[in-house]
Amino acid sequence: MEQFSQDSILVLDFGAQYSQLIARRVRETHVYSQIVPYTISAEDVKEMNPKGIIFSGGPASVSTDGSPRPDAGIFDLGIPILGICYGLQVITVMNSGYVERPDKREYGIAHLDILRQTPLLEGINSKSQVWMSHGDSVSIPMAGGVCTASTENCEFTVVESEERGLFGVQFHPEVVHTVEGFRLIQNFVVNICKAEQSWSMESFIDTKVEEIRDIVKDKTVLCGLSGGVDSSVVAALLHKAIGDQLICVFVNNGLLRKGEADLVLSVFKDTFHIRLQYADVEEQFLSALKGVSDPETKRKIVGRIFIDVFEQEARKARDATFLAQGTLYPDVIESVSPTGGPSATIKSHHNVGGLPEDLKFTLLEPLRELFKDEVRELGKELGLPDEVVYRHPFPGPGLSVRCIGEITKERLETLRDVDEIFIDEIRKAGLYGEIWQALACLLPVKSVGVQGDERTYEEVCSLRAVVSEDAMTADWYRFPPDVLQRASARICNEVSGVNRVLYDITSKPPGTIEWE
Ligand code: XMP
Repeated sequence: MEQFSQDSILVLDFGAQYSQLIARRVRETHVYSQIVPYTISAEDVKEMNPKGIIFSGGPASVSTDGSPRPDAGIFDLGIPILGICYGLQVITVMNSGYVERPDKREYGIAHLDILRQTPLLEGINSKSQVWMSHGDSVSIPMAGGVCTASTENCEFTVVESEERGLFGVQFHPEVVHTVEGFRLIQNFVVNICKAEQSWSMESFIDTKVEEIRDIVKDKTVLCGLSGGVDSSVVAALLHKAIGDQLICVFVNNGLLRKGEADLVLSVFKDTFHIRLQYADVEEQFLSALKGVSDPETKRKIVGRIFIDVFEQEARKARDATFLAQGTLYPDVIESVSPTGGPSATIKSHHNVGGLPEDLKFTLLEPLRELFKDEVRELGKELGLPDEVVYRHPFPGPGLSVRCIGEITKERLETLRDVDEIFIDEIRKAGLYGEIWQALACLLPVKSVGVQGDERTYEEVCSLRAVVSEDAMTADWYRFPPDVLQRASARICNEVSGVNRVLYDITSKPPGTIEWE
């Protein structure tokens, strides 16, 4: 177990949907935080030497046989512990208290009735709104525990044993619906754990650079560069850590946005001077996609050829033993089994899986703990240009899933021009940062139009822009009409072969963000 070089808070994950949010809220207090499975041993915790521990919530009920329990030795380490929801219940039952299941589950908003001002509740208002989601409730608090706040339906909402350093809240302080939740987490971290608030992206870089050097030693790392934010930040971070021991592979599959290949080459080759293997393989992709319209087939072909090309490039970089990937926290799907900790599965499109047996790499995923906006902050700190850092997400199969119907070089060219104008108008209107993702599709339909005195019969494109937190759900973006009007007029005037522009007003669900 690695020992933290600075004050930190350890989050024990009991399978909560919100563990990552807890860790993130702690980092927002400028204290480093890391998530570990709840199965971690007391010795390992001791060695990591955190200033405080948070037990996350979780889907289980403490009264069920085999429900997750931490190593009891953790309670004897003298490190303050805050339990959240299931975390509170676990602390309770493992410290002579009781938990019962009332008739009704409590789900939604409640208001705190603060009974006593304590360092944990400092500055939090009575009647402050909190977010509840629980079946079980504490009926007898842990030994030495005092109830310091209640809600209408839940007596033991906040329980504290200052003497033993055990604290618990029944609500979820990490979610935004708990209005003063951040304050509570900060109170725990600062007032109770006395952690020094010295963590920043800069210190994250220093820590990661050390960590990477330690792991990689004198070996070489291969990194697939897509031009997207995540892989760009991984490359920049690795380059800072190991310089020329990093080899990046950039595959131009002919399905990129306008100017994208040039941007990647200029940033990473000309500015950062990273060793870059550039595979310009447009023809290979386009000939494999010829005549294909089915979305899944397109995806499979793009994935397969990508692996082939990547394999060839990897063989050129023969001495590479590590493969770096820009996996972020939301890409890591967590599941907790009674015997093991959270197991990670990587979204297939992020993973250069499927490489042949003899090309065995050790995976390096330095961004695993971070959220997208933290990765952006890191990218800025590493000196990447805004154009890369704030770029909207772009799917692995690229324009192949936006060129609806058959893919030809000409149709891709048309789509690139449409996309560029749309994005340009969004930027000019100052709206790019407000939008999660904006995209254009070329539809496999022709429509009749009139230009000058001439009847036209040309292609139709659709524009789509969405707002979203995490791409799981999304709402269509309400543009001021004049922005759409300018984009539409320019597309019809400047892009030959397009005479009609549609705006997509479908949310997700029921639609997806991409069309295919
Ligand atoms: P959907 O279309 O499923 O997309 O609502 C959600 C988000 O994921 C992106 N996306 C992909 N990203 N490879 C990727 O790297 C893919 O195959 C892929 N498909 C969708 C999409 O652009 C959106 O941000």
